[in-house]
Amino acid sequence: MSGINYKLKFANKSYESDELIILGSFCKSEGKKKILNNSTWPAEFKDSFNSHKYSSEFTGEKDSSYTFFSQDGIKVIAYGLGDKKELNEESLRKSSATLFKSISKKYKTISFDLDSFTIKNNEEKSFSIIQEAFALTDYNFDKYKSTKENLKLKTIIFETKLPKTKMQKFKTIQDELLCIADAIHFSRDLVNDPPNVLNSETYAKRIEKDVKSFKGVKVKILDKADLKKEKMGLFLSVNAGSAYGPRLVHLTYTPSKATSKTKHIALVGKGLTFDTGGYSLKPAASIINMKFDMAGSATVYGAFRALVQQSPKVKISCFLGITDNAVSGLATMPDSICTGRNGKTVEILNTDAEGRLVLADVLDYACDQKPDVVIDVATLTGACLIALGNEVCGLMSNSDKLANELQKSAKEVDEYIWQLPIIPEWAKDMKSNIADLKNIGGSRNAGTAKAAAFLQEFIKNDVQWAHLDIAGVGDSQSHLPYCPAKGASGLMIRTLYRYVQNGKY
Ligand code: BES
Ligand code: MN
Ligand code: ZN
Repeated sequence: MSGINYKLKFANKSYESDELIILGSFCKSEGKKKILNNSTWPAEFKDSFNSHKYSSEFTGEKDSSYTFFSQDGIKVIAYGLGDKKELNEESLRKSSATLFKSISKKYKTISFDLDSFTIKNNEEKSFSIIQEAFALTDYNFDKYKSTKENLKLKTIIFETKLPKTKMQKFKTIQDELLCIADAIHFSRDLVNDPPNVLNSETYAKRIEKDVKSFKGVKVKILDKADLKKEKMGLFLSVNAGSAYGPRLVHLTYTPSKATSKTKHIALVGKGLTFDTGGYSLKPAASIINMKFDMAGSATVYGAFRALVQQSPKVKISCFLGITDNAVSGLATMPDSICTGRNGKTVEILNTDAEGRLVLADVLDYACDQKPDVVIDVATLTGACLIALGNEVCGLMSNSDKLANELQKSAKEVDEYIWQLPIIPEWAKDMKSNIADLKNIGGSRNAGTAKAAAFLQEFIKNDVQWAHLDIAGVGDSQSHLPYCPAKGASGLMIRTLYRYVQNGKY
C-alpha cells in the first residue's frame, strides 16, 4: 500500500496545509495572445497573485507553474493545464502525474484545490483522473537498493467547495481507484523481481499467499505431476530444461449470490519467469530483461486482484501458466514433436516460441471450465513491437463482440489497443507437414497474428476468446508520466478491470 494518505475535505472554507496549496490554472487565447484564465480561483489568491511583480508572465501554459505566497504567507503553486478546450482526460492524467513528481520529494502536506482542476464541468471525473494519476505515479521499485529514496510527501488533502452531501460518492470512487492502483503496484513488483528471486515455485507461493485475504476466492495449484496427469505435453516441453517445477495457478472467484445465470470470465496469463529461448537461444542483447516474460500473468492477476475486492456479480477464473524457458541436457530440442492437452501434436521448430506452447495447454484447460469469455494476456511476440511499437497493445479475437467491448474499455481508460486479423492463410501457415501444427510460421511476416492463429487451435466449446499481446506495452513506458520510465508498466490492468465491470459479455 502507498504511504500517502489521501484525504477529502468538502464545503471547504480555509485550506488545511500550512505548507503548500496547489491551484489549477488554464490558458486562454485573446486574439493571438495567450493569457491566464484563473476564474475558478478563490478571490483571496487572485489578489496576492496579482500583487506579485512578475505574475503577469504566467499564462497557465501546460505543465508550467508559478509560485507565490498567500496573504497568510503560505506557499501557493499555480499549475498550468493549458487551454481548457484542448484538455482531455488523458492529458489531465499526464499533467497530474508530472505535477505529482515535481512536488512529492519536496513537501509533506499538500492542500490540493480540486475546483480549479475541474474539466468538462465534471467534478467526479476530474477528481478520479487526478487521484488515479497520483496513485499510479507513486511507485518506486527500490527493494534492492540499500539506500531508499523515500518521498517526503505524506498527506494530500483534496479540498473543494462542493457540499458535504457529495463526499460519499467521491470516497467510493477514491477507494476503488486506490484498490486498482494497489493491484497495479503488486503486478509491477512481480514483473520487476529478478529471476533468481522469482522462479515458478516462489511465484506461485507468492500468489497463493496474497490471495488468501480476499473473500470468495479459491486457489488450486497444479505442479509437474498434475500437469502430466492433465497431459499438458506442450506446457511440460517448455519446462523440460528447468531447475524449477512448472506451476499452473488456478484461481476462482465466485460471487456470493451466484446462480446458474451468473456469467463466467476466464483470464489466462503467460508466466515465463525467464525466457532464454531454450536451445533456440536468444543472443546476449535480446536475453536481457526476459524476466518480464511473465508480465501477462502478472497483468491478469493484477486485474483479478482488483476485481475480487469489489465483489463483482460475475464469476472470474484466473489461470497463470508459470515456468521458465531454460537450457540443459533435458531441455526440449528443436524438431521435437509434443502432444498438447487437446490431443493436437506440435512440431517445435523454435524453442523460443514457447509462450504459445504454455498458453495452448492452459487455454484448453480454461475452456473446460465452461467460461463465457476467455481473455489471455502475454508478452508473446517481438513482432508485436515491429507492428505496434512500444505504445500499442495488440488485440486478436474470434469474436467481434468481445473485441469491440475490449476496445471500448481500453478507450474509456485511455489505453491504446489495436486489433489485428486472424486470417485462414495464417492459420494454414501454422500447419506442419509431419504433425498437426508447428510452433512458428513459414516466414517472420505477421508473426503476432500467426501466434494468435496457433492459440486459436486450442480454443474450444465456442468460447469467445481474445488475445492481448503486451510485448510492447508491458514495460518501459517512458512516454507516460504515470508509468515508470523503465521496468513494468502495469498497462492493460485498467482495461481488463473496466471490461469486466462494464458487464457486456
Ligand atoms: N517472450 C518472447 C517475445 C518477446 C520478445 C517479448 C521481445 C518482448 C520482447 C517470445 O517468447 C519469443 O521469443 N518470441 C519469438 C517468436 C519467434 C521465435 C517466432 C520472437 O518474437 O522472436
Ligand atoms: Mn521466447
Ligand atoms: Zn517468451
